[in-house]
Amino acid sequence: MRLNAIHAALAAATLTLALGAQVRAAEQEPIQPLEPAKITDPAKVELGKQLFFDPRLSRSGWISCNSCHNLSMGGSDNFKSSVGDHWAQGGIRAPTVLNSSLNIAQFWDGRAKDLAAQAGGPIANPIEMGSTHEAAEKTLDTIPGYRTQFKKVYGVDKIGIDQITDAIAAFEATLITPNSRFDKWLKGDKAAITADELAGYQLFKDTGCVACHNGPAVGGGSYQKFGLVHEYKTANPATGRAGVTGNDGDRMMFKVPTLRNIELTPPYFHDGSAKTLSQAVATMAWVQLGKTLTPDQNAKIVAFLKTLTGDQPSFPLPQLPPSSDQTPRPDPFAPVAKK
Ligand code: HEC
Ligand code: HEC
Repeated sequence: MRLNAIHAALAAATLTLALGAQVRAAEQEPIQPLEPAKITDPAKVELGKQLFFDPRLSRSGWISCNSCHNLSMGGSDNFKSSVGDHWAQGGIRAPTVLNSSLNIAQFWDGRAKDLAAQAGGPIANPIEMGSTHEAAEKTLDTIPGYRTQFKKVYGVDKIGIDQITDAIAAFEATLITPNSRFDKWLKGDKAAITADELAGYQLFKDTGCVACHNGPAVGGGSYQKFGLVHEYKTANPATGRAGVTGNDGDRMMFKVPTLRNIELTPPYFHDGSAKTLSQAVATMAWVQLGKTLTPDQNAKIVAFLKTLTGDQPSFPLPQLPPSSDQTPRPDPFAPVAKK
């Protein structure tokens, strides 16, 4: 009975979607090309870039944002769950930071409203960077090269966590990946993708994937139930939006991830349970849409998804300002302080 109701609702939604898609088809595709980020404050972006790569923001002096959001491999660590301070095992897969400024909110459950609100979290998270905001501020304050930059960008003599997170967010907002082959196709270069990839895109639309994965980021725009049609079984205790809203109806509602550069960031899903893109696509079709794809359909959708890899961030490796004699010398092996 309950399942019937869900099926009916889904059928209605699919119908609305199909009609909507037909109307839209004439004027535009459900996915739009990414435009490169406009940099309005280069000094702030440069500062944020240094902070993103600076392991001195962590207790151990070893872990930077880039440790888990490796910009040389798609902005993630490609683990099922991350490795943090004292080799602690995280509880959930690290999403990519690429194009994350396009998300409605940050984290799988959307608990941080924007990138600046997010950036303070990992520094003080005991199983991530394991430091405190005070310790991070104090450390940066002992580094003359940072003091000069914070003075120039924010006009402050004392470095505060709000400026640290603001600068990191400004850098992250530049991590947009335009010029994928699919974007070229969207912009009119019909030879940019192959016939199979185009067929994959058609299947992606016809199967119903675009109901949730749409817009410039091919996702990131809404929260949806993971297991809409068939229950998604996982040993991972994360409950999604329910953990934020306290509302039981929000159980297993997760932010729809962007599918941009998806080829670069296995394993997939918040629990990292899908080892390959092909597994992730098969699971999505079944649990979200109640459909079983043939191996050929699956391969075509995967081929389409691989056309979404765009220009990766590219810049000279940031050189971090040297520590002074006052800068604490980190001890990665010091026992975890009991709090
Ligand atoms: C130890 C690994 C680790 C480190 C270090 C780390 N992160 Fe993360 N990051 C994660 C994990 C895991 C998540 C997902 C957590 C969740 O959703 O509950 C995440 C989520 C994010 C997100 C949200 C992306 C999205 O799509 O929702 C952003 C942005 C981000 N991190 C930026 C940063 C920045 C900036 C730093 C440095 C200050 C940092 N991270 C340090 C592991 C890490
Ligand atoms: C009803 C909304 C909805 C539909 C329809 C849907 N997805 Fe998803 N998709 C999601 C959500 C939510 C997640 C995140 C699940 C999680 O890990 O918590 C996701 C995750 C994914 C991932 C893994 C992304 C990552 O970074 O781990 C891929 C790949 C994917 N979807 C592809 C597809 C394909 C292909 C289809 C069509 C066959 C599809 N999706 C249909 C909502 C949807």
